[in-house]
Amino acid sequence: MESKYGNLNGKLPNINSPMKRPSSEITINIHTKKFNDGKSQDTSNSVQLLEQRKSLPVYKVRKRILEEINKHATLIVIGETGSGKTTQIPHFIHNAQLAGNMMIGITQPRRVAAVTIAQRVAQEMHCTVGGTVGYCVRFEDSTSPATKLKFMTDGMLLREAMLDEHLKSYNVIILDEAHERTVNTDILFGIVKKAQVYRAEHRSLAPLKVIVMSATMDVDHFSNYFNKAPILYLEGRQYTVDIYHALKPQDDYCFACLVTIFQIHKEAPASEDILVFLTGQEEIESMCSTIRAILKDPQCKGPPMKVCVLYATLNPNKQLEVFNATAAGTRKVILSTNIAETSVTISGVKHVVDSGMVKARFYKPSTGLNMLRVQSISQAQAWQRAGRAGRQSNGACYRVYTKLEFDGMMKNTVPEIQRCGLSGVVLQLLAIGIDPVEFDLLDKPQLGSIIEAINLLQQLGAIDKNAETPILTDLGKKMAQFPLDPRFAKVILSASDFDCLEEVLSVVAVLSVDTIYVSGNSSKEAVTEARRKFMSPTGDIITYLNIYRCYSNTKNRKKWCFENYLNFWNLEYAHEVRTQLKDLCQSNNMRFSSSGSNHSKVIMAFLTGLFMNTAELQQNKQYITVATRQLTSIHPSSAMFGSLPPCVLYTEMVQTNKCYLRCVSQIDPGWLVQIIPNYAHLYTSSRNF
Ligand code: CDP
Ligand code: MG
Repeated sequence: MESKYGNLNGKLPNINSPMKRPSSEITINIHTKKFNDGKSQDTSNSVQLLEQRKSLPVYKVRKRILEEINKHATLIVIGETGSGKTTQIPHFIHNAQLAGNMMIGITQPRRVAAVTIAQRVAQEMHCTVGGTVGYCVRFEDSTSPATKLKFMTDGMLLREAMLDEHLKSYNVIILDEAHERTVNTDILFGIVKKAQVYRAEHRSLAPLKVIVMSATMDVDHFSNYFNKAPILYLEGRQYTVDIYHALKPQDDYCFACLVTIFQIHKEAPASEDILVFLTGQEEIESMCSTIRAILKDPQCKGPPMKVCVLYATLNPNKQLEVFNATAAGTRKVILSTNIAETSVTISGVKHVVDSGMVKARFYKPSTGLNMLRVQSISQAQAWQRAGRAGRQSNGACYRVYTKLEFDGMMKNTVPEIQRCGLSGVVLQLLAIGIDPVEFDLLDKPQLGSIIEAINLLQQLGAIDKNAETPILTDLGKKMAQFPLDPRFAKVILSASDFDCLEEVLSVVAVLSVDTIYVSGNSSKEAVTEARRKFMSPTGDIITYLNIYRCYSNTKNRKKWCFENYLNFWNLEYAHEVRTQLKDLCQSNNMRFSSSGSNHSKVIMAFLTGLFMNTAELQQNKQYITVATRQLTSIHPSSAMFGSLPPCVLYTEMVQTNKCYLRCVSQIDPGWLVQIIPNYAHLYTSSRNF
């Protein structure tokens, strides 16, 4: 891939740095209390671990916390990042036996947080993960009947609610990082509230305690929603984080981050690691290559540096690598998306570089799709990012935006439920037996978005068209079991009818890892040449299938991936995802069969779920989307680029400077009449059939 910083030629040009270090330049200091000399504490032995726990602000007030939890059915806990909420409060509740024989469930918006916190708490409790302390995240369950403290993603608890809406396995539920306002957490607020009322009314059931935790949030809004629940403020932070702002606005936040990284690298001791917040995989990989190139320059000053990357679509095992310590004398630089923003502690991080930007999901009604857009973060996010520098010692946060720009940021992040497509949410609510229109949510999405989602689910056959209130069909109930976008769940469930379940599972698994390609410094020609042998004239779906097939038939997969410029870790992960999806198909008694070399069948199966994602060729080499009449083009990365078939199916539309279709496959207009007779009239190309 071409470097974003192509003009550097391996050197950092002599530009004015966006910020200066002298202490007079400190804009704000969020320090409240100093606890130590700023050196990281070694937590390798259990005595030190206990000492460290005792030094956390929450430890001193644990009795008070337990009293409040005892007294109230619902409690809101607000405390600075690093005060010990996430790791300690579940621990206190467990020791005080407040949950009886039942579990304490602690939700996290992100999987990497759920996994690493469970590991930390298990270490603190001297047990292995999977015993008293366990975690459960999508495609991975590390709990056992002995588990009492269960860390999980909010999505997993939501799945459990589908099986038992009163959540009877838990006596305490902690909804952590509530400020993130993910769709799943928002729905869980409503579900736990309802379960709590139900369990209070049914004396045979134990009462359910609910604790909502965060560092920053609109407390009154939350308290009102939870029937004026009391708010417990935890005072104090353990370590200091000095905040530096850019002195003047920066044109290119990536470049400003890069300069800042090397500025720190030149001056700070090697033991001080750097965490950089960027927006997405491509940007991160590109900066990673640039940094590595700069490091090779003999003029580059500073200790050895190890550059690590962290983003959601990275293989989970790879994600955990950033938590490993580097050799003494080597600095670690972690380039991450907002996935490291909340909850996580990466040991050694003393400097945070904040780009001020995030890639956020938003829903575009005109296209009917969830899209990703790079935008400014909220102040709450900025504080969370800064908080990552003060986890184990005093630290510093360098914002590559000015104080004025910070002041202009939104205070809180807009809840995801108000900016994303709701078909998945509505499907899940209906599976739990909740009316999506009536459901008591903290912030309601627009009625129009709910209705739109209901319509899509009807078109997919998940909702009964004739019923007065929306209820799920048998197909809809099955679809809800798959942890996938409803459209892809439908694709899998129709695959048996087209005798291609084996193929469809492989492609859906590959699609769920975002990219299987490697970007980097390799020559464009070599990459194109290597990929050509997998490319199918029908497009990307079959190209992915070809790659997956070769990969799974290969003995030395790592070597093979390396030679073919493919991402080994992501393919391994896709392989795991496939196994999980296959299990779900088996439990639904689906018929496994293979279409062999009949690729049309595979694409037809995709059309059953993605028929709204189709586009027709226009005269000027552009395409127009059928459902929303949007002009667009095939993305250059697609196997279909340059082929210009009359009618295509795509899985994703992205908007950069132009609107592009990604993962594109050619379809025969005749299939439309066959597969989706009710919609075929929308297509000009199907009229001849
Ligand atoms: O939830 P909150 O931000 O209040 O804090 P926490 O996640 O409970 O972490 C409290 C402290 O425990 C952190 O500041 C770290 O010093 C330490 N910790 C750690 O060293 N390693 C972890 N994996 C988690 C926490
Ligand atoms: Mg926390």
